[in-house]
Amino acid sequence: MKVPFIFLKRESRQEWEVYQRAFEVTARTGMYILGENVSKLERALASYLGAAYVVTVNSGTDALFLSMRALDIATGDEVITVGNSFIATVGAVTAAGATPVLVDVLDDQLIDPDRIEEKITEKTKAIIPVHLTGRPADMQRINAIAKKHGLFVIDDAAQSFGAVYRGKRYFDAHAACYSFHPLKNYHCLGDGGAIATNNETLNRKLLQLRNHGINGRFSGCFGYNSRLDEIQASLLLSVMPSLDEKLRERRRKAVHYIDALGDLVHVPSWDEAVMEPAFQTFVVQTDQRDELAAFLHAQDVETKVHYPIPCHQQDAWSLQDGVSLPVTEMQSGKILSLPLSHLMTEQEQEYVIDSVRRFFV
Ligand SMILES: Cc1ncc(COP(=O)(O)O)c(C=O)c1O
Repeated sequence: MKVPFIFLKRESRQEWEVYQRAFEVTARTGMYILGENVSKLERALASYLGAAYVVTVNSGTDALFLSMRALDIATGDEVITVGNSFIATVGAVTAAGATPVLVDVLDDQLIDPDRIEEKITEKTKAIIPVHLTGRPADMQRINAIAKKHGLFVIDDAAQSFGAVYRGKRYFDAHAACYSFHPLKNYHCLGDGGAIATNNETLNRKLLQLRNHGINGRFSGCFGYNSRLDEIQASLLLSVMPSLDEKLRERRRKAVHYIDALGDLVHVPSWDEAVMEPAFQTFVVQTDQRDELAAFLHAQDVETKVHYPIPCHQQDAWSLQDGVSLPVTEMQSGKILSLPLSHLMTEQEQEYVIDSVRRFFV
């Protein structure tokens, strides 16, 4: 049996009529930029997330970058984040002109709150927790640290759309940044992103920045072209009603993996009283990661590593020398993402489980 890692073709077959209707209705309106779908989606997202405002933009990366621009984070400022994220997180910080300062992570790949305060200087402006794999970081502690030191919190929630933390889908950051990239749980058919906030001034600045600084008829500042297309907004509206069921199914499959493999590999764990993760990816950890990945490949089971090289070890990193993140570095050699989709069949999942078990016996 062949088990893919990406199920987008299967999903597009299943959702074909929904996609087609969304495309047709929008194509007939002749209104393709900043029309009714974008406004409707922004209202629907705000209501789903429980935030006062949502501004859609053209990617998760822009969501981060524009949030920093809107909060006046710029050259000379420092932003605390992690080194095990997709490169876009630190990329957005450097694009804003600021310096990323990296903090190590816990066993669960999420920022270690105990390590944040030692990295705060008079230049620090913000903390960007990354809710990697769809599991929320310890926002209660992070928000408290930020408040104590007068810092902004900008959530990198690119992987955690729909996750619940202490009863909320919007975790009380100053801005939460989402990605609708095709590989995300809630996605469009191209690039897309959004920023949620409870701050009216920030919302107004973001609306301007994503559209050339235009406020009404005039540009109050220089901005960018970072608008979400009407077609993508229409698609996102169309698939929104099925999202919660999709997330439930991902969670159910993740729990099944945990039950079936927890004696062989390190599996994710969380406090159910605190959170419901979104399971963007299902990551196990083992000292025999490369051997296991090769074995699964030979069994036609496709896996990925998110991410094999930490940000501070990438060629692009020309910032501070000597960054040492022992847990991040150790985990980059141990992590393996197994296939997970709401559309993965029971037989496919059993085959993956059986293949992993056969490797270890
Ligand atoms: C953790 C994280 N941050 C940021 C991004 C950037 O999002 P996008 O690809 O929509 O620009 C991604 C997605 O790829 C991500 O996984």
